[in-house]
Amino acid sequence: MSTAKQGGSTAVAATAEEYLTRFEAQTPGSKALYEEAQRYTPGGIHHNQRYTTPYPVYMTRAKGSRVWDVDGNEYIDMWMGHGDAILGHAPPRVVSRVQEVAAGGLHIGHTIDQEVTLARDICEAIPSAEQVRFCVTGTEATMYAVRMARAFTGRDVIIKLTGGWHGANTDLMVDVNPPEFIGPESRGLLPELTRYTRTVEINDIEGTAKAIAEAGDDFAGMILAPVLGGGNLISADAAYLNFLREETRKAGAILIFDEIVTGFRLALGGAQESYGIRPDLTTFGKIIGGGTPLGVIAGRSDILELTSVRRTVPKAEKVLIGGGTYSCNPLSMAAGIATLEELKSREQEIYPTLERRAARLVEGVQQAFDAVGIPLRAGRAGSMVGFNFLKEAGLPVRNMGEAVAHTIPAKMQELGNRLRARGVFIYKGGTLCTEHSDQDIETLIEAFTACANEMAEAG
Ligand SMILES: Cc1ncc(COP(=O)(O)O)c(C=O)c1O
Repeated sequence: MSTAKQGGSTAVAATAEEYLTRFEAQTPGSKALYEEAQRYTPGGIHHNQRYTTPYPVYMTRAKGSRVWDVDGNEYIDMWMGHGDAILGHAPPRVVSRVQEVAAGGLHIGHTIDQEVTLARDICEAIPSAEQVRFCVTGTEATMYAVRMARAFTGRDVIIKLTGGWHGANTDLMVDVNPPEFIGPESRGLLPELTRYTRTVEINDIEGTAKAIAEAGDDFAGMILAPVLGGGNLISADAAYLNFLREETRKAGAILIFDEIVTGFRLALGGAQESYGIRPDLTTFGKIIGGGTPLGVIAGRSDILELTSVRRTVPKAEKVLIGGGTYSCNPLSMAAGIATLEELKSREQEIYPTLERRAARLVEGVQQAFDAVGIPLRAGRAGSMVGFNFLKEAGLPVRNMGEAVAHTIPAKMQELGNRLRARGVFIYKGGTLCTEHSDQDIETLIEAFTACANEMAEAG
C-alpha cells in the first residue's frame, strides 16, 4: 500500500470487517503464500513475532525507511529489522563493504583480520568493554554471559526482570511473555529452572533487595535490559540501576546489562553511557551486526579470561564458548565495522536527530488519541517507541504487573492491523532510523490519527 495513496487517506474503515476487507484486497499474494507456508511449517511462521492476523505480510525488499511486500505495496517501516537497522535498510556504506568482502569468501572459517578490527572498535566505543567475545546471535550472547557469571562467582542464582526477553535462552525462559508474564515460557524446560532463575519487577528496589537477600550466598548475578521492550517500553530508573550496581558489587555478584536493543541506539556507548553505569558484562547484537547475525559478550577482562583458549586448566575450571561455525564470518565483521564507522563519524548528528523525531512522533500520536478520548500511553526511550492502550486514562504502566492490570493488548494488535492497511508497519513497538525523515514522521502521525478516528468511530 503505497503510503502516497494510503498514509494520508481520510477514508474511514471503521469496523474490523471494513479494514480487514481493505487489507485483504491489497495483499492477495501474502495470503496465498501464508496458505502454502502452513503446509511446510507449523503455524506457517519461523519467528513468532512476525505473525500478524489474519496472515503475515511477505516482504520482498527494504530500503531506507521503507519495505515493499510481494504485492508491490510500500510501507513506512517502524519495525526496522527488529530494531537493528538504525541506519535504515540497506545503508550504502554497509552494503558496499559487505559486497566487497563477499567476493573474497562468504565464510572463510579461519581467523580473519576484520575480527580484530571490530573487537577493537567495540572496546573503544563501550565504556565497560575491556575485552569482547563474538558469537552469532543475541540469544547465545546472553546464554554465555549467564554461564560466565555463574562460573566466575561459583554460584547459581540469576535474577532477571519480569517481562525481560533475552532471546530464547533456556536459562532465562521464565516470566517473559504476556498476558500474565508469570511462569516458565515453554514446555520442555527443566523443573529446576525457576529455582535458579528468579524474577523481580523493574524499578522495584524493595522487591529486588528481598530477592538478593533470599539468594544469599548463591547470588551469581543480575541480568537486565535497561529498557524493557515488547511494546510496553519501560525504562529502568537511574536510581534502580545504581542500586543494582551497588548491591551486586557488595554481594560479589555480576551485573549484566543486556544491551542487544539499547546498545549503539540510546547513545553510541549504549544505555551504560546514558546512565553513566558500568556493568561487569554486557551483551550486544542487532545494530552491531549491521543487518547480519552477530552476538557480542563484552566486559571485564578478568571474567572474560575464563573463556580463553590459552588457559591450561582442566575443563571443569573453564567456561566454554563456541564453536559457532559462523562466528566472526566476514559479512558480519564487515557490516559491524562499517556500521560503527558511520555511527561514530555522525554521532553528534544522528543521536539528537533520532531523539527529536521520536519525541515529535510520540507527541503527535498521543495528541491524536487524546483528541478522540481513547486512553493511550505513547512511550519513548531515545529512538525506541511503544504504545499501550489503557483501561482508563492516566493509569500508570511502570512494571509488568501494571501492564497486565492496566492495558488492553488486543487493541494494540488492532492498531497494528489498521496501520498496516494504511501503509505503516509496526508490531507492538518500533524504532526509528536515520532515514525516517521529518516528512515521514508527519506521515506516520497522519496515519495514527486516521486510525484513532476510525477506532473512535468503531467505538
Ligand atoms: C533484549 C534482547 N536480548 C536478547 C535478544 C535475542 O537476540 P537474538 O534474536 O539475536 O537471538 C533480543 C532479541 O530481540 C532482545 O531484544
